[in-house]
Amino acid sequence: MENIRKEIDVLKEKIEYHNQRYYDLNDPEISDADYDRLFQRLLDLEKQHPELETHDSPTRKVGGRPKGGFLPVAHRSPMLSLENCFDPQQIFDFDKRVRKFLKNDAPVGYTVEPKIDGLAVELIYEKGALTVASTRGDGRTGENVTRNIKTILNVPLKLVTRKKSLPIPDLLEVRGEVYMDVAAFEKLNQTRMAKNEALFANPRNAAAGSLRQLDSRITAKRPLDMFCYGVGNAQRLPFKTHWDVMMAMQHWGLRVNRPHIQVCDTPDDVVTNCRHLEETRAQFPYEIDGAVIKVNRPDLQSQLGMKSRSPRWAIAYKFAPSQETTTVLGIHVQVGRTGALTPVAHLEPVELGGVIVSRATLHNQEEIDRKDIREGDRVIVQRAGDVIPEVVKTVVSKRTGNETKFVMPDACPACGSGIEKKPGEVVARCPNVNCPAQIRGSIRHFVSKGGMDIDGLGDKLVFKLMNKGLVKDEADLYSLTRTALLRLDNIKEKSAANLLGAIEASKTPTLARFIYALGIRHVGEFTAALLADHFGDIKALADARQEALSAIDGVGPQIAESVFSYFADAQNRNLIERLLAAGVKPKVIRSGPTDSPVTGKTFVLTGSLSTIKRSAAKETITQKGGKVGSSVSRNTDYLVVGETPGSKLQKAQEMGISILDEKQFLELLGA
Ligand code: IVH
Repeated sequence: MENIRKEIDVLKEKIEYHNQRYYDLNDPEISDADYDRLFQRLLDLEKQHPELETHDSPTRKVGGRPKGGFLPVAHRSPMLSLENCFDPQQIFDFDKRVRKFLKNDAPVGYTVEPKIDGLAVELIYEKGALTVASTRGDGRTGENVTRNIKTILNVPLKLVTRKKSLPIPDLLEVRGEVYMDVAAFEKLNQTRMAKNEALFANPRNAAAGSLRQLDSRITAKRPLDMFCYGVGNAQRLPFKTHWDVMMAMQHWGLRVNRPHIQVCDTPDDVVTNCRHLEETRAQFPYEIDGAVIKVNRPDLQSQLGMKSRSPRWAIAYKFAPSQETTTVLGIHVQVGRTGALTPVAHLEPVELGGVIVSRATLHNQEEIDRKDIREGDRVIVQRAGDVIPEVVKTVVSKRTGNETKFVMPDACPACGSGIEKKPGEVVARCPNVNCPAQIRGSIRHFVSKGGMDIDGLGDKLVFKLMNKGLVKDEADLYSLTRTALLRLDNIKEKSAANLLGAIEASKTPTLARFIYALGIRHVGEFTAALLADHFGDIKALADARQEALSAIDGVGPQIAESVFSYFADAQNRNLIERLLAAGVKPKVIRSGPTDSPVTGKTFVLTGSLSTIKRSAAKETITQKGGKVGSSVSRNTDYLVVGETPGSKLQKAQEMGISILDEKQFLELLGA
């Protein structure tokens, strides 16, 4: 028991400390997920040992103390927090609790809406005019941030109504979340980095830091936004449902997150919608860290009432975290196919958004210096969408003094050559074209999807083949034999046969893919297609003069220089000759007729296509004179949607871009 009491005390102290870092200083030291774990542990212990629970426990309090510098505002109705839950079963439990409390066997209706990761504020409208705006503070008293809130464009200073049936109440206690879009947050941090100012850990801290500025001119320069999600005095207003409240607010000119609020009749429905929000989380331009489930009827909300810090009528379903705190075990340097040296942080493995992460790119020395990342540091890491994990910031206060600063090596870690760095460039490079790390990278590029598309040749296998001396460059792949492969560990008859089959099948790439596969600097898939189209033959391209290259529409001087020097190198010419001698025969496919419906149009693909390989789809588009873009923009003409499309779909819908399913796409190609 004594141990438990001690653990509770330690937890309370820790939570109070982190509350202060989060709410008062806007500079958290641990990830939300870590915080939630501490909090949950304390809740569990207090539940198991109610005799140890005290009134001053952080589990009974909301948020942070009001900060100095702002005048206090007493909330007319308390601003509560939400109880968290982390899996669907707990949603069913919540529904059971609600119905038990209401002594109700019939289903209770709910709403599900995104939980925006910002900071809670209250707007008081008296006779339709915004009189006071405040932060949540400790739930009873917040800070008066009226001047700052008034700088947010979509917060109306006056409410309006065009419907007799929707008169503006004399008093409206609007509750909502002030937040910053992810893109705006990234831009803000970039500017701060350039000015050597401290970085914000995430959009929420940036929003909180921006709103709580004593000088509202600073707030005005920060791109803040607000969504209204409820009314403190709703239960005293004549609305039958929370949904009606939201629609009324929207009518009066308040911004609500309408398309994402769902009314659900059953708990199953609630779970489906929560899951949907979680799956589409990365598509939102702002961060959402969960879904909020609310009993839809204010009269039932009233009956359910509240516990010390949260209402009984609502719960937050928290998503798997996308930010975590972990330790940098070491910083290693990776050498890419162009010789670029990239420092990579090796991390103590953490789960981020459902994936175990143990590495994060640190980009370059400048980035490491700016963020002051040292070996041994505690850091906050994040994954946003599908991107490579990155280190957001160092938790400087956790330093013990044993951390070591990282300095890029003078010599290439793979071959020992002296590192070169051009003046004005941030990238350090290994100049040795025969560096094994570069060759390995080049081979990986050669066999990649956009290149020769050889399935089954992963990084580890390439390493093994090189290590055993079986492959020294790309051309050697074509002389691999079954016997040689079977001598490698872990390669069985079947995978050897598959690999040899894939290598054989790769012998007839289009010229464009062949050029791309060579890995000439600055020559991406698009440029490769341009060059293929123009020269129609690898020998003609190899012999082209630099002026001829730069005369091609779409080929700039930098590309021309790069292509020219690639083919001026005897070793490269020799490689191509050996590839051709090994039976590689690039097919020449010229652009189709210019009157094809594809000509001049830009396509973007999302999701997986079932009847055509993505690489083949791209090729056909280019053959027919179209372009393939990687992201949806104003220049996109068509978005081709396969199975399980990504965030591009929503973006395209929002931008009104034509959307084709696979069948329509194939028809267009065939026409
Ligand atoms: S309803 C009685 N709806 O999450 C509490 N909250 O810990 C009513 N939040 O403090 C909250 N999005 O700042 C509600 N759609 C939403 C929300 C939301 C974000 C925040 C809010 C609250 C915290 C819960």
